Amino acid sequence: MHVSFDLAAALDAALRTAAASAQLETDGFNPELRTADPRHGDFQANGVLAYAKARKLNPRAVAEQLVAALPAATLEFCTATIAGPGFINFTLTPSALLAWIQAQGSVAQIKAGAASLHHGHRYVVDFSSPNTAKQLHVGHVRGMVIGEAICRLLAFCGAEVIRDNHIGDWGTQFGKLIWGYKHLLDANALSTDPLEELERIYKAADAAAKADPAVLDAVRGELVKLQSGDAENLALWHKIIAISASAFTEIYRLLDIHFDHQLGESFYNDKLPQVYEELTAGKLAEESQGALVVFHPEHPRFKTQPFIIRKSDGAANYASTDLATMLYRTEHFKADAIVILTDARQSDHFEQLWLTTQKWFTQTQRALPRFNHVSFGSILGEDGKAIKTRSGDPIKLKALLAEAIERAYVLVTAKAPELPELERREISSAVGLGAIRYADLAQNRSSDYVFSWDKILSFEGNTAPYLLYAVTRVRSIFRKAGLDPADASATQGATPPESPAELALARKLTAFPTALQLTTAQLRPHFLCTYLYELAGEFSSFYAAEKVIVEDSAVRARRLLLCARTLLLLETGLHLLGLRTLARM
Ligand code: ARG
Repeated sequence: MHVSFDLAAALDAALRTAAASAQLETDGFNPELRTADPRHGDFQANGVLAYAKARKLNPRAVAEQLVAALPAATLEFCTATIAGPGFINFTLTPSALLAWIQAQGSVAQIKAGAASLHHGHRYVVDFSSPNTAKQLHVGHVRGMVIGEAICRLLAFCGAEVIRDNHIGDWGTQFGKLIWGYKHLLDANALSTDPLEELERIYKAADAAAKADPAVLDAVRGELVKLQSGDAENLALWHKIIAISASAFTEIYRLLDIHFDHQLGESFYNDKLPQVYEELTAGKLAEESQGALVVFHPEHPRFKTQPFIIRKSDGAANYASTDLATMLYRTEHFKADAIVILTDARQSDHFEQLWLTTQKWFTQTQRALPRFNHVSFGSILGEDGKAIKTRSGDPIKLKALLAEAIERAYVLVTAKAPELPELERREISSAVGLGAIRYADLAQNRSSDYVFSWDKILSFEGNTAPYLLYAVTRVRSIFRKAGLDPADASATQGATPPESPAELALARKLTAFPTALQLTTAQLRPHFLCTYLYELAGEFSSFYAAEKVIVEDSAVRARRLLLCARTLLLLETGLHLLGLRTLARM
């Protein structure tokens, strides 16, 4: 029996076929397939109600027509029943469950199935994108880990993904940085903690400029020199960028975060005049008090709140470079979709950017990519306020990650003191970094969340330690039996799932594609986290209910098969989220 990877999509297609053969009007029929409450089946189609209502038909009668017209191939792998006013419930047969599970034998097979979800789409994903010469702090972690997960997930689901770290490497802060570098630099401090020192000279230059008008003038002078291409200042600018890039790289390496490009704001300097010209020529932009601005008359706020695309002193700003960025990503990268990750406080900027881009591209007859501002909430301390150190400074990311690994080390040592030191160190790094990462991903990104060490390092609940531990539990079943989970011979001769616990686990496995679909359609990794957490829970119930290594070879094979696939999906899912999994802990 051939059972497709994405069963929801297969059932969607079957219902559309049924509608056509029942001579129902197919235009505007969306079956709306969802995973069902397990008490009712595996999938349910909710779309009949709206469809029938819009045409003044009896929804139950329409549902009956559809079920009667279902293709024979569909009824080979599931049964369909009608519930309530016109929902259609589908329940997979045990042999279909077995066929699906058998077909997903490796990461490559799953990836081949998932590729249909986003095949043929090219995404540019702009994430992390910190500002030069500023330390990465806790606030930066969300964009990094959510961005990395989104890139991995989209690529796994067939998309072509171009990752761009849009560094904030241009702007007025360089006046102070360059002046500070020339007058206040402590070379020793620069070699021990370069970013710390850059931040210090920036703050000191800022204070000096505030206190002394002569310094303020000098700072402005340095900026003007940089902008007009002065060789010495350009060299210093390059140096400052390089120093800060290498500090960023250290953290990216630790967190396994990758980019294809680091174009940065400065890359767009020579592409700005075209933006000003086209937007002015198309009458989208107008002069207002010396600045160039765009209003959106159809928008309740942006009809009066301007999108300033060039400042009154003629200088470029965040909006200018972002407009040029939209154009470059569309024309040079030929992006079908542009995704930018920042915290939710920048929502207005991106809304204005997108409104402007749509009008500009339409006017100039350019292809319009899709655009998604993937925004996220803040990380709060246990007092519910923005998370800070005791002295009130933002917590440095480096320090946070080091603390996570150290805390995990204490936990791991308490749990498994017999493991060699080196292995405990490795486990702590996977658990500690995984905990920070997973805590972030498991939350709906739109909400703020409260950071708590106890919670994120707990072995209970929807946490990294719980899931990493679940992986090692399945692995240990194979280890104890002297088997390799990737070796298909142990699962040969498996019969279809039978007992309630086997069936429940098998069904949960088949819901993986739906979790991928939901996660990548909404660019919200927490859907995948929830799925993995539920899968681990289903596995626990199964393992509590059934003995795996039993005499009967067919029963043993099918239970081992369920274990092997649980392991494969848990590991695949966790790797997509950026976690490292372990053989034991
Ligand atoms: N550098 C900005 C910041 O730290 C984020 C940039 C996001 N990307 C963009 N194309 N605007 O807030």
